[in-house]
Amino acid sequence: MSISEKDKRYVWHPFTQMKTSEDALPIVRGEGTLLFDEDGNSYIDAIASWWVNLHGHAHPYLASKISGQMQVLEHIPFAGFTHKPATDLCERLKVHLPSNQQKFFFSGDGSSAIEIALKMSIQYWRNKSEMRTRILALDGGYHGETFGAMSAGARSIFSAHFNDYLFEVVHLPFPSNASKSIDALTQELEKGDVAAFIFEPLIQGASGMRMYPAKNLSELISVAQSEGVLCIADEVMTGFGRTGTVFACNQLSVQPDFMCISKGLSGGTMPLSLTTCTQEVYDAFLGDDMTTAFLHGHSFTGNPVGCVSAIASLDLLESDECINAMKRIASRHTEFAEDLRVGKFAGLLEDVRFKGSVLAIELKADKSGYSSEVRNTLYSHFISQGVLLRPLGNVIYILPPYCITDEELDKVYKSVLSALERIAI
Ligand SMILES: Cc1ncc(COP(=O)(O)O)c(C=O)c1O
Repeated sequence: MSISEKDKRYVWHPFTQMKTSEDALPIVRGEGTLLFDEDGNSYIDAIASWWVNLHGHAHPYLASKISGQMQVLEHIPFAGFTHKPATDLCERLKVHLPSNQQKFFFSGDGSSAIEIALKMSIQYWRNKSEMRTRILALDGGYHGETFGAMSAGARSIFSAHFNDYLFEVVHLPFPSNASKSIDALTQELEKGDVAAFIFEPLIQGASGMRMYPAKNLSELISVAQSEGVLCIADEVMTGFGRTGTVFACNQLSVQPDFMCISKGLSGGTMPLSLTTCTQEVYDAFLGDDMTTAFLHGHSFTGNPVGCVSAIASLDLLESDECINAMKRIASRHTEFAEDLRVGKFAGLLEDVRFKGSVLAIELKADKSGYSSEVRNTLYSHFISQGVLLRPLGNVIYILPPYCITDEELDKVYKSVLSALERIAI
């Protein structure tokens, strides 16, 4: 049986519309930004495989580090035991994180990192015998697929079947306008008992690469923190250089209490995530018995193979080559965005925005959102051009691995122009 036949028979893919969805494309190999199918066709991975890949596929340096670790120690329980890859990774990350981030809690994916930050925030107040229970988030936010993460996220088609099971979260207006969000925040703070405020800093990914100024977020955080609210920065998508700095929080004038990082953490090779927090948060969990301890742990917590991959990925990320590549991509995006804004397709566009290596092109559409009709047409068009772009509804976005070449970027931009040409007809 071929891969496709077996796939059709057995595999349940995310986001497929069952009867109407297209067959999954069997990918047999990756190299740099390219993915190759069974017939040898190549596709430029212009979305970094759902935002996880930083340095390209099957990177020899990452592969050698992973393979080396596999032969020494593949996994141990991360309770009562520790290992050098985990402790070295914490030390390496500390250099890039806001200086107040002192403690590192490992898990395996972004949603778990969010659950952990939410659970820690709730328990923090209970450990301090203060009954703060309410969670604030931002309108349009996305924080993952598990129940706590879904609760914190915007209610949407993704959560529709589960809304009755989600806990209540107050969603503040999107902070493109600071005063509106601050007013709403202040009103919530006046009502009291706010435990935590969670947000995607600078770019909301899944809701369409919506961008907002660092200054507005800094203001929101400092107002929230003035009332003791724990601020959780969800850097699952924005981490590892996506917004132009290693973390988006590096652009803020204040520091969050928690950070959730995943996706690019391992360089896109292994499932790995971290919830980091301040010493003050950690200290609230110290006690004489288990009642104040954080009783949470996953089987693959602190996986050493993931950790060595993360360290190797940081080696590459910190290199001049990668730093220059990020700058090059940002400046190419800027040029392309300017061209689009004044070009012949300007009338089709609602907005063109960019930050760091992320470029988003929002099309005018009757029905926006993930289920926008135009999305499927665009996706098939890009695949036919040898480019992997998965529009978020009516928003085409480009978020490539940093190793993408200028020629490959040209091809991606051209595929966007030819898609706009098709829509214009
Ligand atoms: C901002 C943000 N938070 C959390 C998540 C959930 O991460 P994961 O898919 O690894 O569970 C995502 C995934 O796209 C995300 O973009």
